[in-house]
Amino acid sequence: MKLRRDLLPSDRAPLARTLEATGFFNPEELALALELVDDRLAHGEASHYRFLVAEVDGEVAGYTCWGPIPGTVESADLYWIAVHPRHQGRGVGRALLAAAEEGMRRQGRRRCWIETATRPQYAPTRAFYLACGYTLVAELPEYYAPGDGKAIFCRVLDDIPGRRDGAGESPTA
Ligand SMILES: CC(C)(COP(=O)(O)OP(=O)(O)OC[C@H]1O[C@@H](n2cnc3c(N)ncnc32)[C@H](O)[C@@H]1OP(=O)(O)O)[C@@H](O)C(=O)NCCC(=O)NCCS
Repeated sequence: MKLRRDLLPSDRAPLARTLEATGFFNPEELALALELVDDRLAHGEASHYRFLVAEVDGEVAGYTCWGPIPGTVESADLYWIAVHPRHQGRGVGRALLAAAEEGMRRQGRRRCWIETATRPQYAPTRAFYLACGYTLVAELPEYYAPGDGKAIFCRVLDDIPGRRDGAGESPTA
């Protein structure tokens, strides 16, 4: 598996296919996810959105998108993470999340926040965040829809062993 920070125009179609193939995102969410992709493609390093793309055997297998939360001193948001079902369960998601955390850490962001849904479909997703060291810090009942709340997870990146090595050395993620 290879991880890269460069988001290429040729990534857009495979990322859209990945998001659709998961079966987790409705058309509105798909459009929103692709808006972030388009923002990055249009503005490059000036974009608020940082991407990491995972490739397996030269094929796009998944991605994540994060950014510092404006108005906060050290928080960052993991906006999106998706791994194509063909590649799920093999550590791609964990590697993407770890690489995003490393980027946050390098930019002085010490808290990673992740929002997801509480409905049963998202139980594996919540298990994934817990397995990756996240704590469920809040639940907002019925946030998305009746019976579907918002689950807010957080990880304090200071807790990661070696966390302080090289912190703040690089302005880029
Ligand atoms: C959530 C997602 C990104 C995880 O990616 P992945 O590559 O499948 O996850 P990994 O293989 O790196 O799993 C890491 C750990 O998470 C846990 N985990 C992953 N999938 C799980 C599942 N279906 N059920 C329970 N635990 C799971 C495991 O503990 C795993 O560690 P292990 O393999 O050492 O046991 C991926 O399944 C996905 O794209 N899901 C659909 C979209 C989605 O929910 N995105 C997030 C929206 S908020």
